[in-house]
Amino acid sequence: MNYEFITVEQKGRVGVITLNRPKQLNALSPALMTELGRALGALDGDAGIGAIVITGNDKAFAAGADISQMKDFSYMHAYLTDYITGWEHFRALRKPVIAAVAGYALGGGNELAMQCDIVIAAENAKFGQPEINLGIMPGYGGTQRLPRFTSKAKAMDLCLTARMMDAQEAERAGLVSRIVPLEKLMEETFAVADKIANYSLPVVMMIKESINRAYETALAEGVLFERRVFQSQFSLEDQKEGMAAFLEKRKPTFKHR
Ligand code: CAA
Repeated sequence: MNYEFITVEQKGRVGVITLNRPKQLNALSPALMTELGRALGALDGDAGIGAIVITGNDKAFAAGADISQMKDFSYMHAYLTDYITGWEHFRALRKPVIAAVAGYALGGGNELAMQCDIVIAAENAKFGQPEINLGIMPGYGGTQRLPRFTSKAKAMDLCLTARMMDAQEAERAGLVSRIVPLEKLMEETFAVADKIANYSLPVVMMIKESINRAYETALAEGVLFERRVFQSQFSLEDQKEGMAAFLEKRKPTFKHR
């Protein structure tokens, strides 16, 4: 597939999507988000892919929704086109998506990172929800995911003051899972993605699905969901192989079934 605003490459079982509007700090235009949705769908549906990475460049992961394209929107345009709802591609994705964030992840950029399953930050990463500066509020999940992934106080602070938090603060707050030096961001993220991608794919998908239940259900329902999925894994060839390999003191060879 040909893309104008992103690039897509495959390295082994990992798909890497790079946002590619550097002059606009990867501002998320509707066209870029349409391409991103297509690329994510294609990688998610590709049996040869086990994990997906989304990244930007050293200066910006993404500086938010494209302001120049939104500035003249009317309420009716936003409502009738259901602006941004079409960007919720991630809810349907079954394979893990890792955000590799360097530089700015602001507004829709931070919200994009939060749609991913793991966020790995370079030391220069900056996260924020500065929409209030523009006379609007976050609209791509920021007011909902930020308090769940960090805390109510942190979400209020960021959304109401527009201040940015650095990588260290974002890790302490729970938004980021690891911080790495900028020059190692892609190498380290790829290593994480490659590791995940070479585990048993159905097990990886079931873990992702189960952890997501923690955000969408009451605890008792989530635990029941996890228990049933866990029990189903005794039907996997990969479970027989993984346990046999452990007992035989060798590396397992997973067949993703
Ligand atoms: N939309 C459109 N263009 C953007 C953009 C955005 N979100 N962010 C940056 N750009 C453009 C700038 O207009 C500028 O273009 P020109 O060279 O044509 O002037 C170019 O990218 C470089 O930006 P700056 O000159 O501003 O770079 P800087 O280093 O001085 O500042 C910055 C960097 C602090 C990130 C600053 O660009 C900035 O504040 N950007 C806007 C951040 C923002 O408000 N994001 C929220 C958007 S609304 C949203 O996302 C809603 C939602 O919930 C989905």
